[in-house]
Amino acid sequence: MPDAAAAPRIVVGVAGGIAAYKAVSLVRELVRVGADVTVVPTESALKFVGRPTWEAVSRNKVSDDLFDDVATVRHVALGRSADAIVIAPVTAHTIASLAAGLAGNLLGTTVLASSAPLVLAPAMHTEMWEHPSVRANMATLIARGATVVGPETGELTGGDVGAGRMSEPEAIAEVVQSLLVPQTLVGQRVVVSAGGTREPIDPVRFIGNRSSGEMGVQLARAARARGAEVTLVAANLEVPPPTGVTLVDAPTAAAMREAMQEAATTSDLVIMAAAVADWVAAEPTQEKLKKTELGETFSPLLHRAPDILGELGASKPAGQLVVGFSAETAVDSDQRETLAREKLRAKNVDVMCVNQVSDQLGFGNVETIVTMIHHASPQSRSVTGSKHSVAGQILDALLDR
Ligand SMILES: Cc1cc2nc3c(=O)[nH]c(=O)nc-3n(C[C@H](O)[C@H](O)[C@H](O)COP(=O)(O)O)c2cc1C
Repeated sequence: MPDAAAAPRIVVGVAGGIAAYKAVSLVRELVRVGADVTVVPTESALKFVGRPTWEAVSRNKVSDDLFDDVATVRHVALGRSADAIVIAPVTAHTIASLAAGLAGNLLGTTVLASSAPLVLAPAMHTEMWEHPSVRANMATLIARGATVVGPETGELTGGDVGAGRMSEPEAIAEVVQSLLVPQTLVGQRVVVSAGGTREPIDPVRFIGNRSSGEMGVQLARAARARGAEVTLVAANLEVPPPTGVTLVDAPTAAAMREAMQEAATTSDLVIMAAAVADWVAAEPTQEKLKKTELGETFSPLLHRAPDILGELGASKPAGQLVVGFSAETAVDSDQRETLAREKLRAKNVDVMCVNQVSDQLGFGNVETIVTMIHHASPQSRSVTGSKHSVAGQILDALLDR
């Protein structure tokens, strides 16, 4: 999503079901990725989660009363300015009201006053969800263009299991975000590697690195949001992967090499954002190494790990774009760029994204500066912001090219 200046405006409607508590996480997630969120709870929703919680998590005033703040004609202002409306959870009652076009509360009037995309995340017991009136009302709303997320099958309130559980907040947030970004990657296959490989020395020890996987995960999420078919090759992620992508587990450099080579054969865009070990233990032992036997110093024999990016660059088919990431500790930006340009040439990749890293910089979900170097241009381009924002900017810059 765009950053603060053009923050998308999202109305989160919350209806009266137990799953209202999960909508708190949805609001937090949308705020986290830069949206300006206004929560519109129904009267029943406020019996489950109170106004102070909604105001605190959305950082905006919350009202469920149509006759509050009448001078601003709140429902029309909200409806007109919304870039998207998501109702989570949406109850059987609110589904029926929307299908009938009822305007008896702030949520109903806001929906009627808006032409923004409408996302519905239903939650109710299986019997209610399968009732012919709910089915008919849902069919009406879908025919009018509503996007429906879930419900999932799982444990419901009361302990029974069946269809009716609200989708997870992250999955709903991703659908909302995908409605807000142009679908520039529809029909494209993208493979992204993320995380840091761990190279075993013995069954309990490994050589690893500090990559959390956040950058690669955000790139996969951004590509998915733009309509691409995405494979995420993941090494020891410390952050949850996005929904809607094919996840391939690749904890070591050898596993990552195999997974990336396989996925790259059918991909239009290959992004190597994982931090792969440069050296791997030559002979990892089957038994745990004993420090009493090793003594005061220990130097395991290390071999160079495969150069996965170099191999992908050397074998890339015509028309495929290969993007590498390079973490540099040099403080001087010219020096960082020179190092990255050398790598770009040596590995035959199209674009190198340079990340400045240090103890405090570059790892985890923090503000990030990435400089993009293109093989065909002497000019570099810097993108900055949260990793979520930077990921979107990188993909959009690649498409500009
Ligand atoms: C404890 C409790 C849980 C409820 N959970 C749901 C639910 O998950 N889904 C649903 O459709 N209705 C549920 N209801 C019923 C709605 O709260 C009720 O239909 C209400 O009128 C909905 O109003 P609203 O759609 O305007 O929020 C629940 C009611 C209670 C008392």
